Amino acid sequence: MQRTLVLLKPDAVQRRLMGRILTRFEDKGLNVIAMKMLRVTPELSAKHYAEHVSKPFYPALEKFITASPIVAMVVEGLDVIRVVREMLGKTNGLMAASGTIRGDFSSSKQMNLVHASDGEEAAAREISLYFAPTEVHPYTPCL
Ligand code: CMP
Repeated sequence: MQRTLVLLKPDAVQRRLMGRILTRFEDKGLNVIAMKMLRVTPELSAKHYAEHVSKPFYPALEKFITASPIVAMVVEGLDVIRVVREMLGKTNGLMAASGTIRGDFSSSKQMNLVHASDGEEAAAREISLYFAPTEVHPYTPCL
């Protein structure tokens, strides 16, 4: 079993897409084992997007991600890091394939609705930024 951090970004919340996006993960058979709504601070943004802080698009990214609430969740499943990234589609919604979340709902590079960790190391680091161990609740589905 693997875990990944998924963020429903401000555009997903504002566009009332939270339920439809969550349904995709549930329909796929993935387990949501932690979830909260929060406002990302500039400090948290800089930690989360540490690899992008020096890039030209970072100021706009920080403004976007801190603008209004997000929903953070931990999703668990077999090979979940790859599975969720494939479900999201390419970063740029304009380039993302139809049938992917971004391909179906986004036409922007920045406002691409969802973030998901891109590897095991990133997943562990990102999960610890948003959740204390006591806030993560793994379970075994009985159905
Ligand atoms: P995400 O998967 O959260 O990882 C980094 C984020 O930065 C990305 O989604 C986009 O929201 C944003 N991003 C990446 N590249 C660009 C870009 N060239 N211009 C603007 N925003 C970008």
